[in-house]
Amino acid sequence: MTKLIIGNWKMNGSQALVASMVESIKSVINQTSSSVQVVVCPPFPYLGVLKQAIGDANIGIGAQNVHTQLSGAFTGEISVGILKDWQTTHCLVGHSERRSLFGETDQLVQEKTKLLLDHEIKPVICVGETLEQRESGQHESTVTQQLKVALKGLSSSELERSVVAYEPVWAIGTGKTASEEQANQMHIVIRKTLEEHATPDLAKSVMILYGGSVNAKNAGSLLQQSDIDGCLVGGASLKPEDFSQIIQAGL
Ligand code: 13P
Repeated sequence: MTKLIIGNWKMNGSQALVASMVESIKSVINQTSSSVQVVVCPPFPYLGVLKQAIGDANIGIGAQNVHTQLSGAFTGEISVGILKDWQTTHCLVGHSERRSLFGETDQLVQEKTKLLLDHEIKPVICVGETLEQRESGQHESTVTQQLKVALKGLSSSELERSVVAYEPVWAIGTGKTASEEQANQMHIVIRKTLEEHATPDLAKSVMILYGGSVNAKNAGSLLQQSDIDGCLVGGASLKPEDFSQIIQAGL
């Protein structure tokens, strides 16, 4: 099955990095029959440069956030129509930094998910527990609850176009990756939750990504797990060489 590797640049990068990263990704995906789909999510001002650098290569354009309103007096925000205008293919929703630093609730994540699907942009729904929740044994219930709210009211075909990313908060930017077993176990729980919304076949076709300190060294073993369909990469997606190695690990 095709793997999906998404780079989330967060509030980092430059025009020069867009150019060197796209060159580096192109040289990797050109060598193969493309069993990996790659998406880059730079800060908003770089979407245009990214689109230009990609040309007709098979690399997706990702955004890190979207506003729920279609247009209007919302200074500093970006609408789904603007994302569409830049041929954005994917958009992160509910990243843990948006939840913890900008107060995004499960309900808001659900609204954004539906809005993106209505405009044919794939939502990458991010879920994950804190260390406290894991240590008190609430990690599975936390993630299941986040996901259930995000998926509320979605039809089967909408679910099919959605991507889920499991990012344990304690593994983000800390250098502490979840073990392959911990990650895969949570992906199985997520898959079961998807089955409550759709047939097992459809639930199987939804991509579930792992994120949290993914690097060139650990990507291969994570991607070999039964229910890990790809990775959402932060820090290592800012280094062309490392990101290329992660892509190669999925080939
Ligand atoms: P790191 O890979 O830097 O831990 O970040 C993960 C992440 O938050 C990706 O969305």
